[in-house]
Amino acid sequence: MTAPASVVTLAGIGSYVPETVLTNAELAARVETSDEWITSRTGIRERRIASPDQAASDLGAEAARRALADAGVQAAEVDLIITATLSPDTVFPSTACLIQHQIGASRAWCFDIQAACSGFLYALDVAHQHLLTGRARTALVIGTEKLSAVTDWEDRTTCVLFGDAAGAAVLRAGGPGRGLMTTILGSDGSLGDLLMIPGGGSRRPTSAETLRNREHYIRMKGREVFKHAVTNMTQAAKEAIAASGLHHDDIAWVVPHQANARIIQAIAQRLELPQEKVFMNVQRYGNTSAASVGLALDELARSGRLRAGDNVVLVAFGGGFTWGASVLEWSRP
Ligand SMILES: CC(C)(COP(=O)(O)OP(=O)(O)OC[C@H]1O[C@@H](n2cnc3c(N)ncnc32)[C@H](O)[C@@H]1OP(=O)(O)O)[C@@H](O)C(=O)NCCC(=O)NCCS
Repeated sequence: MTAPASVVTLAGIGSYVPETVLTNAELAARVETSDEWITSRTGIRERRIASPDQAASDLGAEAARRALADAGVQAAEVDLIITATLSPDTVFPSTACLIQHQIGASRAWCFDIQAACSGFLYALDVAHQHLLTGRARTALVIGTEKLSAVTDWEDRTTCVLFGDAAGAAVLRAGGPGRGLMTTILGSDGSLGDLLMIPGGGSRRPTSAETLRNREHYIRMKGREVFKHAVTNMTQAAKEAIAASGLHHDDIAWVVPHQANARIIQAIAQRLELPQEKVFMNVQRYGNTSAASVGLALDELARSGRLRAGDNVVLVAFGGGFTWGASVLEWSRP
């Protein structure tokens, strides 16, 4: 235990996507769909698919190494690793423990968070609180997904949406500017069955029947999810901006969970922000669940369009339902 911190900053960011690209045209050869349908309904043009020997921890470890290098921090300095994933290597041990071993962060204590596509923001907030209280000085937050392993490749209503990726951030106590300011989180468990993997848990243990029913894959009522995603992400972002003492004009960038271009456009409109301030890369990666916010923030940072002092809103929505929004001041050039 060290002294409490008044400021926590994002000291480094990194991401990793597998090399293999799966295009809409290739998907149209597998299920009854078309590039035109997928592009017009979702904005997605292609997604990345991990190789058979890559699991979520492998993607996450590579993103973590890149975030540590970006921060100039050694793995041995990390006190805490929190991994958000809905496609863990195994039910247990946690993917965070597996990543710890891969990157050699032997001092860290490690656990996973399950908040589906909102997982990165949930993990960010838990790490933030540990750093504020002085329980940790350096934390690694990782969102990693091998969604291709839990996607039903015979279901055209879902298989066109998802991809594999990882995003990671290094959080440190102290630093210039305000750093992480406010995070608003919310959940509504009454709507859990609209987006879920029904089989393979203690409710429906894996059996010949659950496998036959394809219950070990993601199921979603897309139209319902769409409405809730727009409403809750907009509300959470507004609350987080106000709680940070800011106005929408003060926001340089919104980095939303990348599920669907139409959801992202609707959020920009409702937040009264021009589309140019809302980062989008869903066209290249699809929905990568817990990985998407870290991946998007890393791409934005590497594009050179983020400036020190920029106020950035991260916002996400996912199964559970869960949602959240964080406001931070970007502190690096
Ligand atoms: C999934 C989503 C793209 C579907 O778009 P939609 O406009 O709501 O489409 P619907 O599900 O109502 O389906 C419309 C029609 O297209 C068909 N369709 C569905 N997927 C299709 C596909 N890949 N290719 C062609 N047709 C398809 C449906 O069968 C339906 O046909 P019908 O009218 O004959 O029954 C959209 O609902 C969505 O993005 N939802 C949110 C998903 C999301 O973000 N989830 C994660 C949140 S973390």
